Amino acid sequence: MTSTQDAAIPVAATGTHLPAPGSEWWRTAVIYQIYPRSFADANGDGLGDLPGITAHLGALADLGVDAVWLSPFMVSPQNDAGYDVADYCDVDPIFGTLADFDEMLATAHGLGIRVIVDLVPNHSSDQHRWFQEALASAPGSPERARYIFRDGRGEHGDLPPNNWESVFGGPMWDRITEPDGTPGQWYLHIFDSSQPDFDWTNEEVREEFRRILRFWLDRGVDGFRVDVAHGLMKKDGLPDYTPPADGDSMGGEDDDVPYWGQPEVHEIYRDWHEVLAAYDGDRALCAEAWLPTPDKTALWVRPDEMNQAFNFPYAMTDWNAPALRLVISESLRAFSAVGAPSTWVLSNHDVIRHASRLALTGESPQGEGIGPLSVAQPIPELGLRRARAASTVMLALPGSAYVYQGEELGLPEVIDIPDAARQDPTWFRTDHEKYGRDGCRVPIPWTAGSPASGFNDTGAAWLPQPAGWDDYARDVEARDPDSTLSLYRRLLAERRAHGLGSAPFTWIPGHRDDVLAFEVGDVTVIANVGTEPVELPAGSILVSSEPFEGRALPADTAVWLIPA
Ligand code: GLC
Repeated sequence: MTSTQDAAIPVAATGTHLPAPGSEWWRTAVIYQIYPRSFADANGDGLGDLPGITAHLGALADLGVDAVWLSPFMVSPQNDAGYDVADYCDVDPIFGTLADFDEMLATAHGLGIRVIVDLVPNHSSDQHRWFQEALASAPGSPERARYIFRDGRGEHGDLPPNNWESVFGGPMWDRITEPDGTPGQWYLHIFDSSQPDFDWTNEEVREEFRRILRFWLDRGVDGFRVDVAHGLMKKDGLPDYTPPADGDSMGGEDDDVPYWGQPEVHEIYRDWHEVLAAYDGDRALCAEAWLPTPDKTALWVRPDEMNQAFNFPYAMTDWNAPALRLVISESLRAFSAVGAPSTWVLSNHDVIRHASRLALTGESPQGEGIGPLSVAQPIPELGLRRARAASTVMLALPGSAYVYQGEELGLPEVIDIPDAARQDPTWFRTDHEKYGRDGCRVPIPWTAGSPASGFNDTGAAWLPQPAGWDDYARDVEARDPDSTLSLYRRLLAERRAHGLGSAPFTWIPGHRDDVLAFEVGDVTVIANVGTEPVELPAGSILVSSEPFEGRALPADTAVWLIPA
């Protein structure tokens, strides 16, 4: 078969990646996502905590990560696992105290690991003091003006102000009862009804978030992962919008979705850029902005805005060589064009773990999750094999890569969580139609044969761990040179040794269409995304996603080669 692959690649993508200037660590960093609820539980209550993180940071230094990002640990009723914040400047007692945070930060810095915290500016919890004040105040009051309250439609105002649907299912509006007991105004919530959206046209909201940024910057954090960074501004007049029937919550590719990516949102990040620039130490902002293309995503990382944006178009690409070539090329081109590094990510706390997602028997339902009755079911061995190959490709790419806790152990999505144990609001808001994201959030295993596989020493776990979790335990994998953990350690060490994060990237022509072949610096990467073996070019194997004999690269396997 002759190669047709080059036709799909924009020429500008080859060799255009900007080198890393100076100390801008975020251009090349491998950033490990800690999901605090499920990482390590020091007090044994079944929910992870900050002292648990501090105690296990050594394992992450050993893995070779440059930074960690912590999902929210601030005061929260935990209706959306902490993405519903009631007090932005304190630690929820279930995770510890501010002193525990300071100790964790100092320990991380002592190990050479930077720390990014999650900031949730689109919405607060309904338990936030401001929302409680809004409920107790009159329509039109300054207290209401911090959120998006509107009168309802219809003669008695009993219809929601527009037709928007919440990302978690159901209407995006809830009606309140006014302090005098009468049916009242409606408030907007893109997510759960317990997560009211702030009104970012209000200067008081903007000033409050500058204060919150400075609070954490003063404590010494290295940056922020900004939750729903594309949602803060809503289109004037809040016009009706109907997403395409087969689309996901991002909307159609060319749609002007009135609550996503409105142009005015960028003023906010230009302002935050200035706030961070006043601090030393190269602090960084990373946008969580679910947008359908790299070009759209790159708008968040123009030189006077954020530093990174998650590359979700890459994360959402199937195990398919032409599609991967296209998204990699498009990403390098689009981010380079604005002087930003591309990021690379395969898993996080909102999507089906890639060890399962990459080998589903049907179409991937992504954020909707999978459970025992889902049409699409993972093929476990194939999924793990592809995940190891996909990570071997990802960790060679120039730019910054994100690793979600447990993917370095090859953890699969947990499918058979008992219904009664499920926690994701998606599960409840869709009347159990969509399983949601619990399957990627199960507490991770540390030591085989211990209570809760070493997550704590009591055996409690906020989501039940499945049978067989011990097989993935870190101590077991640390002893096995062929384990996924050993693979990640090698990938991270060689990525650093060969400077791949800032090395020039070039596709290698002449390979089969179902093969990915590229050079990054002095490393050649070959990934067999097809079904037939591929004869390897010259070079000695530096890292391989699977052990194999000879020079024929098996299906679903990737290697890094260096000159012999
Ligand atoms: C982001 C978070 C997700 C959360 C949502 C609402 O997408 O990653 O976990 O549910 O925002 O805050």
